[in-house]
Amino acid sequence: MNLCIFLLATIGCGNFIIKFSYAADHVIIETENVKSDSREGRAIQSSTYRLACPGLSECLPLRECPQLLAEATTRCYNSDRSLFCGANQNYEPFICCPIAYTTPPFQAAADTTNNNINYQDKLSGSCGKALIQGSYYKKLGAFPFAARVGFKNLNNGNLVYPCTGSIISRRVILTAAHCGLAKADGHRLSSVRVGEFDSSKDPDCSESGYCAPSAINHAVSHVVVHPDYVNGQYHHDIALLILRTPINYTISAQPICLQRDRNGLVVGKRATIIGWGKNSLSNVRSTEMQYLEVPLASWDQCLRVYGSSGALDSQKSIEGQWMCAGGEGKDVCNGFGGAPLFITEGSTAYQIGIMSFGSENCGGLRIPSVYTSIAHFHNWILDNIPVE
Ligand SMILES: *[C@@H]1O[C@H](CO)[C@@H](O)[C@H](O)[C@H]1NC(C)=O
Repeated sequence: MNLCIFLLATIGCGNFIIKFSYAADHVIIETENVKSDSREGRAIQSSTYRLACPGLSECLPLRECPQLLAEATTRCYNSDRSLFCGANQNYEPFICCPIAYTTPPFQAAADTTNNNINYQDKLSGSCGKALIQGSYYKKLGAFPFAARVGFKNLNNGNLVYPCTGSIISRRVILTAAHCGLAKADGHRLSSVRVGEFDSSKDPDCSESGYCAPSAINHAVSHVVVHPDYVNGQYHHDIALLILRTPINYTISAQPICLQRDRNGLVVGKRATIIGWGKNSLSNVRSTEMQYLEVPLASWDQCLRVYGSSGALDSQKSIEGQWMCAGGEGKDVCNGFGGAPLFITEGSTAYQIGIMSFGSENCGGLRIPSVYTSIAHFHNWILDNIPVE
């Protein structure tokens, strides 16, 4: 520990300053004579180098963000310097510090920065940014876009979470239509759990000790299922869950961006799927959010696997509504219905698909899964997001 902190303070965590070029699109170089920061009269050297930090975080000297100190030190050991956002002329490292830790209490900070945004501009706000980013960092706060879709058992009132969805705005969760409808077995869609990482812990805390606010269950006000979806069939598998109260964005709850078109979505491109459920690499269902990288696959591959099942035939099986991904010998299985499949461009996550269905031979070689295409339904999503 001490060695790395020493390194950080003297030579800036190895050569991370050089790494600024990797994100040149949002490098901010403060060349002007910025003498002080109005908040606390904190002196800023004129040769301070800072990258822009996502939404609710701020590029601060590591020593002013003690909650992330241990995390940053570990990352430094692992040669993952991407948690850092800059340095001053003394090579003192800066880190994207979630505002939660700079302006307590957390809720107050979240309020003023977020909740007054007019909902009418629909999806034009900031999206796709994790407040804690690092190339190898995949834990709490790295993928804050997923939510768990909860069904209530009508007999005993217990909640179960058979599906995953994604946060696309303060009031809207995107998921699969087959997750938005009443379950046959005495369950009814009731709420969405937002801000969760490990479902066995409350609050969620990282190994290095910083914690996210508790996950919150939001009641579902109503569901917008695609009008062409037919229960029990596989086409038009898309739905919006409209929440009764808006989400307060936090370190563990942020909206994801939506992919507008198919540009760049080529076979072999790597995408990530996140959610809570079982994946083919493990026999147990983990309580932690899972992430898995899968390659985009050709439509022919899905046709080969599912063509004869009838799942893809229907009068409504219009061209391009599905995407095929996986087939590498690992996949997500039960519990990932409705989960977001996304690509990361720069440091921004764009959802490209919604997990729709897969094979019982989940995770088999050359057995990809089928996703609802976001590009195909982009306009439908925008048209059906409520205006307040
Ligand atoms: C969001 O924050 C406001 C202000 O602190 C609070 O009143 C409200 O209950 C919060 N909403 C949720 C869903 O946590």
